[in-house]
Amino acid sequence: MLLGIVEFIILACGLITTFFPDEVDDSLDSSTPTGRFSSDLGRWPTDFSADIQPVACASHNDYWRKEPLFSALRAGCTGVEADVWLFDQDLFVGHSTQSLTPERTLRSLYLDPIFKILGSQNSISAFHPSSDIQPSGVFDTKPSQTLVLLIDFKNDGDAIWPYVSDQLQPFREKNYLTYFNGSSVIEGPITVVVTGNAPFSSVVANPHYRDMFFDAPLALMDKVAESAIPVGASVPNGNPADAVRSTIPSTRSDGDQGQGQSGSAPTNPSIYSPANSYYASVDFRASIGFPWRGHLSSQQKEKIRMQIAGAHARGLKVRYWNVPSWPKGLRFYIWRVLVREGVDYLNVDDLHSATKGNWGWGRKGPWWSGPWRFRPSTTS
Ligand SMILES: *[C@@H]1O[C@H](CO)[C@@H](O)[C@H](O)[C@H]1NC(C)=O
Repeated sequence: MLLGIVEFIILACGLITTFFPDEVDDSLDSSTPTGRFSSDLGRWPTDFSADIQPVACASHNDYWRKEPLFSALRAGCTGVEADVWLFDQDLFVGHSTQSLTPERTLRSLYLDPIFKILGSQNSISAFHPSSDIQPSGVFDTKPSQTLVLLIDFKNDGDAIWPYVSDQLQPFREKNYLTYFNGSSVIEGPITVVVTGNAPFSSVVANPHYRDMFFDAPLALMDKVAESAIPVGASVPNGNPADAVRSTIPSTRSDGDQGQGQSGSAPTNPSIYSPANSYYASVDFRASIGFPWRGHLSSQQKEKIRMQIAGAHARGLKVRYWNVPSWPKGLRFYIWRVLVREGVDYLNVDDLHSATKGNWGWGRKGPWWSGPWRFRPSTTS
């Protein structure tokens, strides 16, 4: 009898978190202590991320959070995203023009804080008199872990490009950026990926040095899955992009192109390699569709598999965005499938459950089948 009641309560709690996920997430969010991540960087200990394990999630629309950047780092996300607009000689961060304010710039929200964190992670002192050849990243538990800064160009991509490049100069000088040296990619603490209206032609303009990488169209990748020549991090004799530069469309339609589907992106999938791109991404709902039957159909899974195989064969990291996120049970089901299939980055809005929950691993049946309670198993 008592066990029955306990079971009922667990089930009821599970139902609530399944169907009202955001409310529960919010309350968890607000109860998280934020003191350690005070924006006063001067008080930070150098081991500020000592207890944080990096997780391959990309914090989507990160600037909406109470503490942009820091919420994502605290959750262990190894990717953050900023939508940037060029106005009046500076880059402002926001989802739409209405949300822009003079204080919220790429520098103030992202570049300056990241630069300070890296400065303290790589401090030069009497105990450590010279800077390291390979600088440490933002995560103490894994200093070699790169943090991906995804910059979504919202208005004129050609005009935005030089501003982003200029603002990255301090990082370049400190050897903080992942770069391509003409033959190899050398990973640094920060990997800059550009998307939206970012022009592919600017990414590949210099064949000898690049530190802003493209967000390649994942939708094209399934076509190369069988035929792709594996391309590792090292690309001998330049890279395929140079040979086919002439195929890059020179005109683009106006408006936001969306991530991984920039109008400036060449449509020949064999152009993309680590020499010019980092992620390959696509809108999940547009490319794969909704799991109407409670499961992704075998055709949907096959498409995911082919896209991932094609992107990996080209040495690119797979990222899906606009993944159905509600109810929570459905979101977890899709995340489990994607991770099992080998996706590299999950675009997440809900940092807490992405990094702390166990997503119902080990559950069988469609996502709505009960019981909706967490199980300790992390297998399957
Ligand atoms: C690029 O870096 C790799 C690995 O460090 C090195 O072997 C190669 O010689 C470099 N290439 C150029 C053109 O500097």
